[in-house]
Amino acid sequence: MDSGDQKELLGESFQGTPTVVPGQPTHTRKLYLESYGCQMNFSDSEIVASILSDAGFSTTRDEDEADLILLNTCAIRENAEQRVRTRLRQFKQAKRARPHLVVGVLGCMAERLKESLLEQEKLVDLVVGPDAYRDIPNLVEQVHGGQKAVNVLLSREETYAEISPVRLDANGVTAFISIMRGCDNMCSFCVVPFTRGRERSRDPASIVREAHELFDAGYREVTLLGQNVDSYKWNIDNKGVIKDDSQPVVRFAELIDRVAQVNPDLRVRFSTSHPKDMTDDVLEIMAQHENVCKYIHLPVQSGNSDVLKRMNRGYTREWYLDRIAAIHRIMPDCATSTDIISGFCGETEEEHQDTLSLMNLMCYDMAYMFSYSERPRTLAQRKYENDVPPEVKSRRLQEILAVQKVHAANRTKSYVGRTYRVLVEGTSKKKEDQFFGRTTYNTVVVFPKENAKPGTYVNVHVHNCTPVTLIGEITQEQPSA
Ligand code: 5AD
Ligand code: SF4
Repeated sequence: MDSGDQKELLGESFQGTPTVVPGQPTHTRKLYLESYGCQMNFSDSEIVASILSDAGFSTTRDEDEADLILLNTCAIRENAEQRVRTRLRQFKQAKRARPHLVVGVLGCMAERLKESLLEQEKLVDLVVGPDAYRDIPNLVEQVHGGQKAVNVLLSREETYAEISPVRLDANGVTAFISIMRGCDNMCSFCVVPFTRGRERSRDPASIVREAHELFDAGYREVTLLGQNVDSYKWNIDNKGVIKDDSQPVVRFAELIDRVAQVNPDLRVRFSTSHPKDMTDDVLEIMAQHENVCKYIHLPVQSGNSDVLKRMNRGYTREWYLDRIAAIHRIMPDCATSTDIISGFCGETEEEHQDTLSLMNLMCYDMAYMFSYSERPRTLAQRKYENDVPPEVKSRRLQEILAVQKVHAANRTKSYVGRTYRVLVEGTSKKKEDQFFGRTTYNTVVVFPKENAKPGTYVNVHVHNCTPVTLIGEITQEQPSA
């Protein structure tokens, strides 16, 4: 894994915007579900909504009419946890007036905080970890029976492969497909291997089936999600031993190939790639399929090899730059984005400068940038001192943000003057008479609606831009990308 903004579509998002679930009037009890953190959490919430739909829960956007409130939580940084606690205190107040209301915590905070949330602070009735969502209906009944309910067991097999997600907040055009769960990487700053457990890949047949179903329902873009998609593997174990000789081995390149073949009009994106595992065969498959978007989110975390070593990332600055060179060799126009952490344990001023210099080499289209936050149980917490003072971390982060702002604006400007194939996603937030969509490079374009429709492709000539958005109009000209 490694980050992002829900609407940016690639990378992990850690924003904490509520996911509101459209209602399904045939059911009797009402579920209100809020999601925090990465895209994987948003995707998991769609699985939870599906499981609870089968158990007779309809979904509501109004927390005041809910019988069951679930928060799908994120533990990646301390401030993500703080936001959830604040929200839970609000729900605790609500429970005073509505004693039958059940409040639960799902996701990454579940394992670590089960005792404090249930017993000490008595903030919730229900705590469910990422691999135990099938158990939620039973656990809700247990709460109605007067008990607190917990299941935080992690699994080596669970992928929810056959569950059809209920598409939440759906625009009917773009959707996530979860292709794997967990992470075996043990980056030293990261809590995910502890909260989400061991890496396991989902049956490719079920992934391709889901992509077909989405296409048939009118969707035109899927984002394949995993903490480290480059280590996707099916029918082969970590040691390279084939499990079933009669079945093909499927790695990530093969999976992209299969999903891309669902339909040439189905765009394929994926997130998150890992620099140590991203192989040229993935890049070559991307280049072969026009519908695989030319955009790679490749978190670097730091531009200094010593820091990367302490982070246990498994690559050096030179290796990272070589992978970027491979991207540009195979797809000269491919856009890139990244994640960066400022002020990791022991980071010196020179090491920080290396991050800025790498950014200047890269000129990323987009980046998610964070101050280091020490997380319990991680390798870094056990092994290194969190010794960069908060004000230094934040000053370095400001410098990183300032550099990225310039690069993003330059990248956006560099797209002006050409025609792009754009997938129409919906009405622009700012102008009712305009649509917004994205180019293959994931850049947002706004343009007058004319006769276009969401879920179709149009050619848009871009004549202007703001620092992050392209401005254009529909044209008959052939696109250059
Ligand atoms: N502190 C700050 N940022 C972190 N990330 C992960 N763990 C931490 C942490 N402890 C960032 C990394 C990762 C993204 C999802 O979140 O950049 O790629
Ligand atoms: Fe991503 Fe590393 Fe965390 Fe795995 S351990 S989720 S690869 S940051």
